Amino acid sequence: MPAGRHFLQIPGPTNVPDRILRAIDRPTIDHRGPEFQRLGKEVLAGIQRVFQTRHPVVIYPASGTGAWEAALVNTLSAKDKVLMVETGHFATLWHKMAKKLGLDAEFIPGDWRHGVNPALVAERLAADKAHAIKAVCVVHNETSTGLMLPPGLSFNALSPRALEASKSAGLARSFWDWSEMLGPNASGFFPYTPATNLLYGLRESIAMLEEEGFANVFARHDRHAEATRRAVRAWGLELLCQEAAEYSSSLTAVMMPAGHDADRFRAVVLERFDMSLGQGLSKLSGKIFRIGHLGDFNDLMLAGTLAGVEMGLELASVPFRKGGVTAALEHLAAESRRGRGDRQAA
Ligand SMILES: Cc1ncc(COP(=O)(O)O)c(C=O)c1O
Repeated sequence: MPAGRHFLQIPGPTNVPDRILRAIDRPTIDHRGPEFQRLGKEVLAGIQRVFQTRHPVVIYPASGTGAWEAALVNTLSAKDKVLMVETGHFATLWHKMAKKLGLDAEFIPGDWRHGVNPALVAERLAADKAHAIKAVCVVHNETSTGLMLPPGLSFNALSPRALEASKSAGLARSFWDWSEMLGPNASGFFPYTPATNLLYGLRESIAMLEEEGFANVFARHDRHAEATRRAVRAWGLELLCQEAAEYSSSLTAVMMPAGHDADRFRAVVLERFDMSLGQGLSKLSGKIFRIGHLGDFNDLMLAGTLAGVEMGLELASVPFRKGGVTAALEHLAAESRRGRGDRQAA
Protein backbone atom coordinates (compact mmCIF):
# COMPACT_ATOMS: atom_id res chain seq x y z
CA MET A 1 0.00 0.00 0.00
CA PRO A 2 1.37 3.44 -0.90
CA ALA A 3 1.74 5.84 2.03
CA GLY A 4 -0.38 8.98 2.28
CA ARG A 5 -3.59 9.84 0.49
CA HIS A 6 -4.50 8.76 -3.01
CA PHE A 7 -5.02 11.78 -5.28
CA LEU A 8 -8.31 11.12 -7.08
CA GLN A 9 -8.05 13.78 -9.79
CA ILE A 10 -10.51 12.24 -12.21
CA PRO A 11 -13.20 14.75 -13.13
CA GLY A 12 -15.83 13.17 -10.95
CA PRO A 13 -16.47 11.38 -8.73
CA THR A 14 -14.31 13.70 -6.67
CA ASN A 15 -12.47 12.77 -3.53
CA VAL A 16 -15.13 12.31 -0.85
CA PRO A 17 -14.43 14.52 2.20
CA ASP A 18 -14.06 12.75 5.57
CA ARG A 19 -17.01 14.72 6.87
CA ILE A 20 -19.24 13.18 4.21
CA LEU A 21 -17.80 9.69 4.71
CA ARG A 22 -18.60 10.02 8.42
CA ALA A 23 -22.13 11.17 7.62
CA ILE A 24 -22.68 8.12 5.38
CA ASP A 25 -21.22 5.77 7.98
CA ARG A 26 -24.36 5.63 10.10
CA PRO A 27 -27.00 2.98 10.66
CA THR A 28 -29.44 2.60 7.80
CA ILE A 29 -32.90 3.58 8.95
CA ASP A 30 -36.42 2.60 7.95
CA HIS A 31 -37.07 4.55 4.77
CA ARG A 32 -40.76 4.63 5.62
CA GLY A 33 -40.29 5.97 9.14
CA PRO A 34 -40.33 9.46 10.70
CA GLU A 35 -36.55 9.90 10.90
CA PHE A 36 -36.23 9.23 7.17
CA GLN A 37 -39.03 11.66 6.49
CA ARG A 38 -37.00 14.46 8.09
CA LEU A 39 -33.95 13.45 6.04
CA GLY A 40 -36.02 13.25 2.84
CA LYS A 41 -37.51 16.70 3.37
CA GLU A 42 -34.11 18.20 4.13
CA VAL A 43 -32.35 16.80 1.06
CA LEU A 44 -35.23 17.54 -1.30
CA ALA A 45 -35.31 21.18 -0.10
CA GLY A 46 -31.51 21.41 -0.07
CA ILE A 47 -31.10 20.13 -3.61
CA GLN A 48 -33.50 22.83 -4.83
CA ARG A 49 -31.16 25.42 -3.33
CA VAL A 50 -28.22 23.77 -5.10
CA PHE A 51 -30.05 23.93 -8.44
CA GLN A 52 -31.31 27.41 -7.49
CA THR A 53 -34.89 26.53 -8.30
CA ARG A 54 -38.24 26.69 -6.53
CA HIS A 55 -39.50 23.80 -8.64
CA PRO A 56 -39.12 20.10 -7.80
CA VAL A 57 -35.82 18.26 -8.16
CA VAL A 58 -36.06 14.49 -8.43
CA ILE A 59 -33.30 12.42 -6.81
CA TYR A 60 -32.70 9.00 -8.39
CA PRO A 61 -30.74 6.12 -6.88
CA ALA A 62 -28.87 5.89 -10.20
CA SER A 63 -25.78 7.21 -11.93
CA GLY A 64 -26.07 10.10 -14.38
CA THR A 65 -27.09 7.83 -17.24
CA GLY A 66 -30.33 7.11 -15.39
CA ALA A 67 -31.09 10.82 -15.03
CA TRP A 68 -30.58 11.27 -18.80
CA GLU A 69 -33.06 8.52 -19.52
CA ALA A 70 -35.51 10.01 -17.05
CA ALA A 71 -35.27 13.44 -18.71
CA LEU A 72 -36.11 11.94 -22.11
CA VAL A 73 -38.81 9.42 -21.22
CA ASN A 74 -40.74 11.85 -19.03
CA THR A 75 -41.02 14.58 -21.62
CA LEU A 76 -41.14 12.98 -25.08
CA SER A 77 -43.08 10.55 -27.25
CA ALA A 78 -41.88 7.92 -29.75
CA LYS A 79 -40.57 9.42 -33.01
CA ASP A 80 -40.47 12.95 -31.54
CA LYS A 81 -37.77 15.04 -33.16
CA VAL A 82 -35.08 16.24 -30.76
CA LEU A 83 -32.03 18.37 -31.44
CA MET A 84 -28.76 17.36 -29.79
CA VAL A 85 -25.25 18.78 -30.12
CA GLU A 86 -22.03 16.78 -30.35
CA THR A 87 -19.89 18.39 -27.66
CA GLY A 88 -18.05 15.21 -26.66
CA HIS A 89 -18.26 11.66 -25.39
CA PHE A 90 -21.26 12.11 -23.11
CA ALA A 91 -23.28 14.07 -25.66
CA THR A 92 -22.59 11.20 -28.08
CA LEU A 93 -23.80 8.61 -25.57
CA TRP A 94 -26.94 10.62 -24.83
CA HIS A 95 -27.67 10.85 -28.55
CA LYS A 96 -27.25 7.07 -28.84
CA MET A 97 -29.67 6.62 -25.95
CA ALA A 98 -32.25 8.93 -27.57
CA LYS A 99 -32.16 6.84 -30.73
CA LYS A 100 -32.49 3.60 -28.74
CA LEU A 101 -35.57 5.05 -27.07
CA GLY A 102 -37.17 5.58 -30.47
CA LEU A 103 -36.66 9.35 -30.77
CA ASP A 104 -35.79 11.01 -34.04
CA ALA A 105 -32.58 12.54 -32.73
CA GLU A 106 -30.76 15.01 -34.94
CA PHE A 107 -27.12 15.53 -33.99
CA ILE A 108 -25.39 18.82 -34.83
CA PRO A 109 -21.81 17.65 -35.45
CA GLY A 110 -18.95 18.97 -33.35
CA ASP A 111 -15.23 18.39 -32.89
CA TRP A 112 -15.30 17.76 -29.10
CA ARG A 113 -13.21 20.91 -28.62
CA HIS A 114 -16.09 23.39 -28.48
CA GLY A 115 -19.27 23.76 -26.48
CA VAL A 116 -22.72 24.27 -27.94
CA ASN A 117 -22.89 27.14 -30.43
CA PRO A 118 -26.18 28.88 -29.58
CA ALA A 119 -26.27 30.54 -33.01
CA LEU A 120 -26.32 27.15 -34.75
CA VAL A 121 -29.12 25.92 -32.49
CA ALA A 122 -31.08 29.13 -33.10
CA GLU A 123 -30.62 28.75 -36.86
CA ARG A 124 -31.84 25.15 -36.78
CA LEU A 125 -34.87 26.10 -34.68
CA ALA A 126 -35.70 29.05 -36.93
CA ALA A 127 -35.65 26.71 -39.93
CA ASP A 128 -38.10 24.39 -38.17
CA LYS A 129 -41.20 26.33 -39.23
CA ALA A 130 -43.50 23.39 -38.45
CA HIS A 131 -42.18 23.18 -34.86
CA ALA A 132 -41.31 19.52 -35.31
CA ILE A 133 -38.43 19.80 -32.82
CA LYS A 134 -39.79 18.98 -29.38
CA ALA A 135 -36.62 19.30 -27.32
CA VAL A 136 -33.07 20.61 -27.45
CA CYS A 137 -30.66 18.47 -25.40
CA VAL A 138 -27.26 19.89 -24.49
CA VAL A 139 -24.42 18.71 -22.31
CA HIS A 140 -23.25 21.87 -20.61
CA ASN A 141 -20.02 20.47 -19.21
CA GLU A 142 -18.56 17.15 -20.35
CA THR A 143 -17.99 15.99 -16.80
CA SER A 144 -19.91 15.08 -13.67
CA THR A 145 -20.91 17.28 -10.74
CA GLY A 146 -18.93 18.39 -7.71
CA LEU A 147 -21.29 17.22 -4.99
CA MET A 148 -18.39 15.37 -3.30
CA LEU A 149 -20.40 12.14 -2.94
CA PRO A 150 -19.59 8.58 -3.89
CA PRO A 151 -21.31 7.67 -7.20
CA GLY A 152 -24.92 6.56 -7.13
CA LEU A 153 -27.23 9.58 -7.10
CA SER A 154 -28.46 11.65 -10.01
CA PHE A 155 -30.95 14.46 -10.43
CA ASN A 156 -33.59 15.92 -12.70
CA ALA A 157 -34.57 19.56 -12.05
CA LEU A 158 -38.11 19.94 -13.38
CA SER A 159 -39.31 23.19 -14.89
CA PRO A 160 -43.06 23.87 -15.01
CA ARG A 161 -42.92 23.39 -18.81
CA ALA A 162 -41.19 20.02 -18.43
CA LEU A 163 -43.82 18.98 -15.92
CA GLU A 164 -46.55 20.06 -18.31
CA ALA A 165 -44.92 18.08 -21.14
CA SER A 166 -44.72 15.00 -18.92
CA LYS A 167 -48.51 14.85 -18.75
CA SER A 168 -48.82 14.02 -22.42
CA ALA A 169 -45.41 12.38 -23.08
CA GLY A 170 -45.93 8.92 -24.54
CA LEU A 171 -42.63 7.10 -24.03
CA ALA A 172 -42.98 4.08 -21.74
CA ARG A 173 -41.67 4.75 -18.25
CA SER A 174 -42.04 3.21 -14.85
CA PHE A 175 -38.96 3.42 -12.60
CA TRP A 176 -38.17 6.88 -14.01
CA ASP A 177 -41.69 8.26 -13.85
CA TRP A 178 -41.63 11.73 -12.27
CA SER A 179 -45.27 11.52 -11.29
CA GLU A 180 -44.59 8.43 -9.17
CA MET A 181 -41.80 10.35 -7.40
CA LEU A 182 -43.49 13.67 -6.83
CA GLY A 183 -46.39 12.33 -4.77
CA PRO A 184 -44.29 10.66 -2.03
CA ASN A 185 -41.58 13.37 -2.29
CA ALA A 186 -44.11 15.98 -1.18
CA SER A 187 -44.00 14.43 2.30
CA GLY A 188 -40.29 13.53 2.25
CA PHE A 189 -40.67 9.93 1.07
CA PHE A 190 -39.74 7.99 -2.05
CA PRO A 191 -41.90 5.57 -4.08
CA TYR A 192 -39.25 2.86 -3.85
CA THR A 193 -36.25 2.17 -1.62
CA PRO A 194 -34.03 5.25 -1.69
CA ALA A 195 -30.23 5.21 -1.37
CA THR A 196 -30.60 6.12 2.31
CA ASN A 197 -26.94 6.34 3.26
CA LEU A 198 -26.04 8.34 0.17
CA LEU A 199 -28.78 10.77 1.19
CA TYR A 200 -27.00 11.23 4.54
CA GLY A 201 -23.97 12.12 2.44
CA LEU A 202 -25.99 14.45 0.23
CA ARG A 203 -27.33 16.29 3.30
CA GLU A 204 -23.78 16.78 4.55
CA SER A 205 -22.46 17.85 1.16
CA ILE A 206 -25.20 20.47 0.81
CA ALA A 207 -24.33 21.72 4.31
CA MET A 208 -20.66 22.00 3.35
CA LEU A 209 -21.47 23.85 0.11
CA GLU A 210 -23.76 26.28 1.95
CA GLU A 211 -21.26 26.89 4.74
CA GLU A 212 -18.70 27.92 2.15
CA GLY A 213 -21.32 29.73 0.07
CA PHE A 214 -22.03 28.91 -3.56
CA ALA A 215 -20.36 32.09 -4.85
CA ASN A 216 -17.19 31.16 -2.96
CA VAL A 217 -17.32 27.58 -4.21
CA PHE A 218 -17.60 28.80 -7.81
CA ALA A 219 -14.81 31.36 -7.32
CA ARG A 220 -12.54 28.68 -5.83
CA HIS A 221 -13.11 26.42 -8.82
CA ASP A 222 -12.56 29.30 -11.25
CA ARG A 223 -9.25 30.09 -9.53
CA HIS A 224 -8.02 26.50 -9.59
CA ALA A 225 -9.06 26.07 -13.23
CA GLU A 226 -7.22 29.22 -14.30
CA ALA A 227 -4.09 28.16 -12.37
CA THR A 228 -4.25 24.75 -14.08
CA ARG A 229 -4.57 26.26 -17.56
CA ARG A 230 -1.56 28.48 -16.83
CA ALA A 231 0.39 25.37 -15.85
CA VAL A 232 -0.60 23.59 -19.06
CA ARG A 233 0.46 26.55 -21.21
CA ALA A 234 3.76 26.87 -19.34
CA TRP A 235 4.42 23.17 -20.00
CA GLY A 236 3.97 23.98 -23.69
CA LEU A 237 1.00 21.62 -23.94
CA GLU A 238 -2.33 22.33 -25.61
CA LEU A 239 -5.74 22.58 -23.96
CA LEU A 240 -8.46 20.46 -25.55
CA CYS A 241 -11.03 23.25 -25.21
CA GLN A 242 -10.43 25.86 -27.91
CA GLU A 243 -12.85 28.53 -26.76
CA ALA A 244 -11.83 30.60 -23.73
CA ALA A 245 -15.44 31.52 -22.94
CA GLU A 246 -16.24 27.80 -22.69
CA TYR A 247 -13.47 26.70 -20.35
CA SER A 248 -14.71 24.40 -17.60
CA SER A 249 -13.88 25.32 -14.04
CA SER A 250 -14.23 21.75 -12.86
CA LEU A 251 -11.79 19.97 -15.16
CA THR A 252 -9.02 20.67 -17.66
CA ALA A 253 -8.46 18.34 -20.60
CA VAL A 254 -4.92 18.37 -21.97
CA MET A 255 -3.78 17.19 -25.42
CA MET A 256 -0.86 14.79 -25.46
CA PRO A 257 1.90 15.68 -27.93
CA ALA A 258 1.62 13.56 -31.12
CA GLY A 259 3.33 10.19 -30.82
CA HIS A 260 2.87 10.01 -27.03
CA ASP A 261 0.21 7.92 -25.34
CA ALA A 262 -1.78 9.75 -22.67
CA ASP A 263 -2.76 6.45 -21.04
CA ARG A 264 0.85 5.40 -20.66
CA PHE A 265 1.57 8.76 -19.03
CA ARG A 266 -1.41 8.31 -16.68
CA ALA A 267 -0.16 4.84 -15.78
CA VAL A 268 3.23 6.30 -14.82
CA VAL A 269 1.56 8.94 -12.64
CA LEU A 270 -0.59 6.32 -10.93
CA GLU A 271 2.30 3.96 -10.38
CA ARG A 272 4.82 6.54 -9.15
CA PHE A 273 2.65 9.09 -7.37
CA ASP A 274 -0.57 7.26 -6.54
CA MET A 275 -2.61 9.82 -8.45
CA SER A 276 -5.49 9.00 -10.80
CA LEU A 277 -5.94 11.39 -13.71
CA GLY A 278 -8.98 11.18 -16.00
CA GLN A 279 -8.61 9.26 -19.23
CA GLY A 280 -9.67 10.41 -22.67
CA LEU A 281 -12.86 8.62 -23.68
CA SER A 282 -13.75 6.90 -26.96
CA LYS A 283 -12.23 8.83 -29.86
CA LEU A 284 -9.97 10.81 -27.49
CA SER A 285 -8.65 7.65 -25.85
CA GLY A 286 -4.87 7.88 -25.45
CA LYS A 287 -4.88 11.37 -26.96
CA ILE A 288 -5.75 13.47 -23.92
CA PHE A 289 -5.65 13.29 -20.15
CA ARG A 290 -7.99 15.18 -17.86
CA ILE A 291 -7.16 16.91 -14.61
CA GLY A 292 -10.11 17.11 -12.22
CA HIS A 293 -10.01 20.11 -9.88
CA LEU A 294 -13.48 20.08 -8.42
CA GLY A 295 -15.11 19.19 -5.14
CA ASP A 296 -13.40 19.53 -1.77
CA PHE A 297 -10.14 20.91 -3.08
CA ASN A 298 -7.72 23.65 -2.06
CA ASP A 299 -4.62 25.44 -3.31
CA LEU A 300 -2.16 22.96 -1.85
CA MET A 301 -4.09 19.97 -3.20
CA LEU A 302 -3.93 21.62 -6.62
CA ALA A 303 -0.21 22.25 -6.16
CA GLY A 304 0.28 18.54 -5.35
CA THR A 305 -1.81 17.52 -8.35
CA LEU A 306 0.12 19.71 -10.77
CA ALA A 307 3.44 18.63 -9.26
CA GLY A 308 2.42 15.01 -9.93
CA VAL A 309 1.60 15.87 -13.55
CA GLU A 310 4.87 17.74 -14.05
CA MET A 311 6.96 14.95 -12.53
CA GLY A 312 4.98 12.37 -14.52
CA LEU A 313 5.62 14.19 -17.81
CA GLU A 314 9.32 14.02 -17.10
CA LEU A 315 9.28 10.35 -16.08
CA ALA A 316 7.18 9.36 -19.09
CA SER A 317 9.60 11.25 -21.39
CA VAL A 318 6.86 13.48 -22.76
CA PRO A 319 8.34 16.60 -24.39
CA PHE A 320 7.43 19.60 -22.22
CA ARG A 321 8.91 22.69 -20.61
CA LYS A 322 9.35 22.88 -16.87
CA GLY A 323 7.64 25.63 -14.92
CA GLY A 324 3.96 24.72 -15.05
CA VAL A 325 3.69 24.31 -11.29
CA THR A 326 5.48 27.64 -10.78
CA ALA A 327 3.10 29.40 -13.19
CA ALA A 328 0.12 27.97 -11.31
CA LEU A 329 1.54 28.92 -7.91
CA GLU A 330 2.20 32.46 -9.13
CA HIS A 331 -1.43 32.77 -10.13
CA LEU A 332 -2.63 31.43 -6.78
CA ALA A 333 -0.31 33.81 -4.92
CA ALA A 334 -1.46 36.78 -7.00
CA GLU A 335 -5.08 35.88 -6.36
CA SER A 336 -4.35 35.56 -2.66
CA ARG A 337 -2.75 39.03 -2.63
CA ARG A 338 -5.97 40.32 -4.21
CA GLY A 339 -7.92 38.80 -1.33
CA ARG A 340 -9.04 35.77 -3.34
CA GLY A 341 -7.22 32.95 -1.60
CA ASP A 342 -8.48 29.70 -0.06
CA ARG A 343 -9.20 31.19 3.37
CA GLN A 344 -10.20 34.67 2.36
CA ALA A 345 -13.61 34.01 0.93
CA ALA A 346 -16.10 36.41 2.48
C1 LIG B 1 -21.72 15.16 -18.51
C2 LIG B 1 -22.00 13.75 -18.15
N1 LIG B 1 -23.18 13.24 -18.43
C3 LIG B 1 -23.48 11.97 -18.12
C4 LIG B 1 -22.57 11.15 -17.52
C5 LIG B 1 -22.93 9.72 -17.26
O1 LIG B 1 -23.03 9.53 -15.95
P1 LIG B 1 -22.75 8.12 -15.25
O2 LIG B 1 -21.44 7.62 -15.74
O3 LIG B 1 -22.75 8.58 -13.82
O4 LIG B 1 -23.91 7.25 -15.58
C6 LIG B 1 -21.33 11.64 -17.18
C7 LIG B 1 -20.32 10.81 -16.50
O5 LIG B 1 -19.25 11.25 -16.15
C8 LIG B 1 -21.03 12.97 -17.52
O6 LIG B 1 -19.82 13.48 -17.24
